[in-house]
Amino acid sequence: MQTHVASRVLRTSNFATDAARQIVAAGLEAISKHAVFRLGLAGGNTPKAVYSALAELTHDLPWNRIQITFGDERCVPHDHPDSNYRMASDALLSRVPIPEGNIFRIRGEIDPAEAASEYEARLGSVAARFGETRYRHDLLLLGLGEDGHTASLFPGYPALDEQERNVIPTLGPKPPPQRITFTLPLINASRSVVFLVNDRTKEPVVQSALKGEYPSGRVAPSDGGVLWLLGHEA
Ligand code: 6PG
Repeated sequence: MQTHVASRVLRTSNFATDAARQIVAAGLEAISKHAVFRLGLAGGNTPKAVYSALAELTHDLPWNRIQITFGDERCVPHDHPDSNYRMASDALLSRVPIPEGNIFRIRGEIDPAEAASEYEARLGSVAARFGETRYRHDLLLLGLGEDGHTASLFPGYPALDEQERNVIPTLGPKPPPQRITFTLPLINASRSVVFLVNDRTKEPVVQSALKGEYPSGRVAPSDGGVLWLLGHEA
């Protein structure tokens, strides 16, 4: 029976630590149920502090049972300052004992269409092993842009309306413009989504998203929950 749980909002003055603890709890639950924790990472700046806090809790998780994906990536080399992979690697992945093969990096340095297709195929082979028609994240972390975008799904861009594919190339108004992104069908296949927002100036956008507006407002897993973790930093 599929149930879409209404979005929950949790306000915290301890944003990074509370977010890290949410991730650990989700991980332990997933591993107890399916022996693996499939965690999708958000890009941008907000998650850096969360990933650093998570790295401090490294002993709380069996990292060899964790599979890491990226909700979107900029089309730049992995060591480029704009790379979401580089941000996550510096803050977290280089600091925990996770096997390299468990980190599914989007190859932003190659042709975007090819990068998207190869990533889709990689997720698809894991989904097939789980008997899933679409890869299901146990937890997908997402950010929120001032224009209500999430991942690299921007208002008014065709990528937002993709209903079949899971990972596609797209352009966006936030530099760098060429990106690879999860689509809404893949995002909404997640068991759980946590939006990480630690900027009180985004509050009006959060409120609109909670009413279903913007790309972020269209995140509504058919069989999963959404938590908005809101910090107070401006
Ligand atoms: C990206 C992110 C994007 C980000 C928001 C918020 O690659 O840019 O996927 O969706 O999460 O733009 O970014 P900040 O956390 O830097 O405000």
